[in-house]
Amino acid sequence: MKILSIETSCDETAVAIINATGKETDALFQVEGDALYSQASKHAQYGGVYPTLAKREHARNLVPLLKSALKEASLLSNTEHTISKEKQVFIEKLLYREDGLAQKVLQALQNIEKPSIDAIAVTYGPGLEPALWVGVNFARALAHIWDIPIIPVNHLEGHMIASAVHSTSEDGRTFAVQEVAFPMLGLIISGGHTEIVHTTEWGSYAVIGSTRDDSIGEAFDKVARILDVPYPGGPRLSELAQEGRNTLSTRPAHLTKNIQKLPRPMIRSNDLDFSFSGIKTAVLYMVQGLGEVNNTQRTLIAAEFEEAVTDVLLTKVTQALELHPSKTFILGGGVSANTYIKERLQHLFKEEIHTCTLRVPTQNLSTDNAVMIGMTGYFMHLRNEATYTSTDTLSAIGNLKLQ
Ligand code: KG4
Ligand code: ZN
Repeated sequence: MKILSIETSCDETAVAIINATGKETDALFQVEGDALYSQASKHAQYGGVYPTLAKREHARNLVPLLKSALKEASLLSNTEHTISKEKQVFIEKLLYREDGLAQKVLQALQNIEKPSIDAIAVTYGPGLEPALWVGVNFARALAHIWDIPIIPVNHLEGHMIASAVHSTSEDGRTFAVQEVAFPMLGLIISGGHTEIVHTTEWGSYAVIGSTRDDSIGEAFDKVARILDVPYPGGPRLSELAQEGRNTLSTRPAHLTKNIQKLPRPMIRSNDLDFSFSGIKTAVLYMVQGLGEVNNTQRTLIAAEFEEAVTDVLLTKVTQALELHPSKTFILGGGVSANTYIKERLQHLFKEEIHTCTLRVPTQNLSTDNAVMIGMTGYFMHLRNEATYTSTDTLSAIGNLKLQ
């Protein structure tokens, strides 16, 4: 089955084409086209994602990305394609709020032959609602012109499925589902979420722990900002933390002076919830207390921050597994790209948790992408979940839950 997938939930605009075969237990995915544009540099001046700008950027980039993905998949043939007047009116109405996207779609699709694609998978939540709407309406427009069904995908399930597959080729273009034994626990750590999820089968989830305020990704990005690292600071903050650990391992004592320990929020709360806003404030006070912060101090603060949040994650993972003994544990979401968190989790499972297999996503599926949305769409197709047609009402849902 060939699926075209679209992801616009935050500040990544992505379109992919995958060829999926097999069952839930032995599915294979060939990535035939993969086009992704990160808007991060555009949002840097605002210190975070600015929803109206994200929406406009998605509308600007979706058509070029679609063409690029189709071309890569050898599905772009430039022939005239007549779009009926009725269809044109439908598209114009559907996309009238999307910053000129209707004209772009009509112009481009009049010159593209209908590709052999069986369905369109699109993220319809959770995420920034104005950003999600662009993707959902774009999917409906393509589905209308090409007369193919739409599979609405929950972005968080996408992050979970991304962790269940492994790359089977060096070019990172083919993936196979790994053996996943249920019950399964998942830890989703991203820019919008920090959740522990329990499930006994794909497609049905119970959230058993979540953050009460900021997500862990937000904490990374906000602490990065306090330390003068531009948005999105998570990955760079993690590099600083590694420098800090290197320094500590060679020249300890006097360097740690003035770098207090940070709190490990809710580490002893008797539940599976998180809170990350206090730790950001603690970093702010520490930096204010220090006055001028030199580079070594920045790296040491970053290391202490990364250690603090990782301590919390590991404690909650252990508690969750005690309360819900499981056979598989999957880590998903953009923050799962963090090497330190991944290594400490891998160490914990190797040393202490022998009855449960840990799965982490490959690096190119960790942060937001359309490939995982296509894979999830395929899993939904295998479960016979209802598809939508372009004329069905399909809404973006900013606070969509996993259930
Ligand atoms: O899943 P994702 O790409 O987008 C959302 O669905 O939110 O996650 C983005 C988040 C951002 O907060 C980003 O700073 C963080 O993931 N992130 C990292 C790393 N790579 C991405 N945080 C810490 N270390 C990293 N290496
Ligand atoms: Zn995400």
